[in-house]
Amino acid sequence: MVATALTAIAGASNLDELKEVRIEHVGDRSPIAKANQSLGQMEVAARAEFGKVVGKGRGLVASAFEARQSVLEAERDARVLIEERVDVSITAKRTPQGGLHPLTILTNEICDLFLGLGYRVAEGPELEAEWLNFDALNIPADHPARTMQDTFFIEPLESHLVLRTHTSPVQMRTMLEEKPPIYVICPGRTYRADELDATHTPVFSQVEGLVIDRGITMADLKGTLDYFARSIFGPDVKTRLRPSFFPFTEPSAEVDFFFNGRWVEWGGCGMVNPKVLRAAGIDPDEFSGFAFGMGLERTLMVRHGITDMHDIVEGDIRFTQNFGSGLR
Ligand code: PHE
Repeated sequence: MVATALTAIAGASNLDELKEVRIEHVGDRSPIAKANQSLGQMEVAARAEFGKVVGKGRGLVASAFEARQSVLEAERDARVLIEERVDVSITAKRTPQGGLHPLTILTNEICDLFLGLGYRVAEGPELEAEWLNFDALNIPADHPARTMQDTFFIEPLESHLVLRTHTSPVQMRTMLEEKPPIYVICPGRTYRADELDATHTPVFSQVEGLVIDRGITMADLKGTLDYFARSIFGPDVKTRLRPSFFPFTEPSAEVDFFFNGRWVEWGGCGMVNPKVLRAAGIDPDEFSGFAFGMGLERTLMVRHGITDMHDIVEGDIRFTQNFGSGLR
């Protein structure tokens, strides 16, 4: 019985076969196990002698079985390592998700915060009537801003169309279309005949704010600009107004903000000039308002420490990806 079992164990060439061998020659129903069970019916003297023989035989079979089992297990493990090998050096497949340009992300951020204050987003065309871009805003024909140097005029000149030089014509469009109270934020692309360099671009972006209501004062303007600046640059930012001049606001100011240890010019602002209100058919004795306008490229550059305008204009995704996708 022992010899038969040892031959069968040696002949098992894999773990499945060894399992069969175990049932037949090693387990509870094997001949050796049965011989062991039969000891119980023997006389005491014979039991001791026969017991030794059976015990030795069972020990041999059991250790041969275990030895064979570890050999076959080692063989299987080695085979699995090869068959189920994973090549971790294969390049993963990626599907780029795309994303918004940082200027678009900033525009959305600004619109969101003003929508939260009850403003409406207003837009106007980039190809604008000269009258709305200049005359209606109290910028007379001999104003320096109208010389060929700054403005892209559209041919034929009799069309009196320009690429808008600021977003302020949207103020006038809005006042002509709706009655006060007016609370609008107007983001958009604007154009001036500048060379593209590290700090200038002929195509840039502005955001314009306009409020017309009863009893609006410069304190409302200052409070709004403070809130705007804190939302964009962080809670510790300070703003200041410096006296300035714009034909469409009176009084007018430049707004600066204090960020990372220095004052930075942000944009223009002021109380809407009564002449402009009158041109829009709004009674300046009943209503007053404020307006502000700032450049978005500059805002982005200061907030993120961008030193070269080319990075914003060129749209290289190695730059834009640093701002996240902007998708919500
Ligand atoms: N439109 C002005 C500019 O482009 C900025 C401005 C907007 C000033 C609103 C006052 C009020 O320089």
